[in-house]
Amino acid sequence: MMPLITLLSLLVLGAQAGHGVEWTYSEGMLDEAHWPLEYPKCGGRRQSPIDLQMKKVQYNPSLRALNLTGYGLWHGEFPMTNNGHTVQISLPSTMSMTTSDGTQYLAKQMHFHWGGASSEISGSEHTVDGMRYVIEIHVVHYNSKYNSYEEAQKEPDGLAVLAALVEVKDYTENAYYSKFISHLEDIRYAGQSTVLRGLDIEDMLPGDLRYYYSYLGSLTTPPCTENVHWFVVADTVKLSKTQVEKLENSLLNHQNKTIQNDYRRTQPLNHRVVEANFMSRPHQDASTHLDGLEHKAHNESDEPLQPPVHYEVVKSEHREPEHRPRGHWVPQGVKQWLKSDDQQARSWDRDSALSDRILLEAIGPGERPPSLPAPHY
Ligand SMILES: *[C@@H]1O[C@H](CO)[C@@H](O)[C@H](O)[C@H]1NC(C)=O
Ligand SMILES: *[C@@H]1O[C@H](CO)[C@@H](O)[C@H](O)[C@H]1NC(C)=O
Ligand SMILES: *[C@@H]1O[C@H](CO)[C@@H](O)[C@H](O)[C@H]1NC(C)=O
Repeated sequence: MMPLITLLSLLVLGAQAGHGVEWTYSEGMLDEAHWPLEYPKCGGRRQSPIDLQMKKVQYNPSLRALNLTGYGLWHGEFPMTNNGHTVQISLPSTMSMTTSDGTQYLAKQMHFHWGGASSEISGSEHTVDGMRYVIEIHVVHYNSKYNSYEEAQKEPDGLAVLAALVEVKDYTENAYYSKFISHLEDIRYAGQSTVLRGLDIEDMLPGDLRYYYSYLGSLTTPPCTENVHWFVVADTVKLSKTQVEKLENSLLNHQNKTIQNDYRRTQPLNHRVVEANFMSRPHQDASTHLDGLEHKAHNESDEPLQPPVHYEVVKSEHREPEHRPRGHWVPQGVKQWLKSDDQQARSWDRDSALSDRILLEAIGPGERPPSLPAPHY
């Protein structure tokens, strides 16, 4: 005979499920180990997240850069909700992502996974060689061949997620996150919503989107549907410690407990292959380039370029505002050169009169700007 307590548990679970029981990461009866009870797909064989192990990743140089359209500044409204598990920003379907195989996906929403509970400060879902990053950003898309997200989420080729990992840079506030973070207090309680006006999603993503890992997996929350084509960007977003702590401590779940450690543990790879369009991780020392004050002007008589090469140009007319750590100002001549190489254009076709620095990259020999303006101080 089934022990009474178990029977009761099942009855309670069943009753709650009828009302859409709240799954959790670590508390109660529907913690992540028990998701498969209510959501069988969560026990499947192509689940996400996973540990991205460089030694097992298959290099595929034919994977081209993702083509992100409409990710730049958009002056419309972005509804933002505390759904009890995370903060979610609704995105306009004018934002689209075309992958290397030509499939077009339309954006639906972006949300975050973070840590913060007790001494545990990291909360990314994907790990890289076992390393968990501080925060993970997910931009969820659906295949444009379907009429809506609701329809696409049931299809085997329905979804794609662009994921980015966040690193802490102690005292460097990332101004592209200021608006988002300052509105978290509007949605402290689960179910609350607010509206952000005018967001540049591209600025909230890593500066270099060309290099990524790609594999087939699932949603990382129930129902864990196994129809997600994952693109995890190799470059990272940098936030200050204070910004990270704000995200970790601002939101409450349905039980009025602070939402922390809302990440799922990594899942078995089960013979899947993770591909990447780079051989060793780029941007290992990207921060040196981003912060370095040294100037690396391009010189036509230099040796042929090896990937990736960073150019930094200083424009003296506008001092870079302190609160804008990663601005990009692209002079017209350089812009034209960028346009001739579509991968470059996607990464760097940004313009800001406020910024006094640009950082450009070339990906191979011969791919260099014709001439960059000489710096003057
Ligand atoms: C959470 O706190 C708010 C404000 O104090 C209150 O209205 C609400 O009933 C609380 N919810 C729970 C589940 O305790
Ligand atoms: C490029 O390098 C050459 C040789 O080192 C030097 O003579 C020339 O002035 C440099 N040009 C620029 C634009 O810095
Ligand atoms: C990127 O995608 C957009 C929209 O699908 C398309 O119009 C544009 O031509 C694409 N750009 C490149 C360089 O493929």
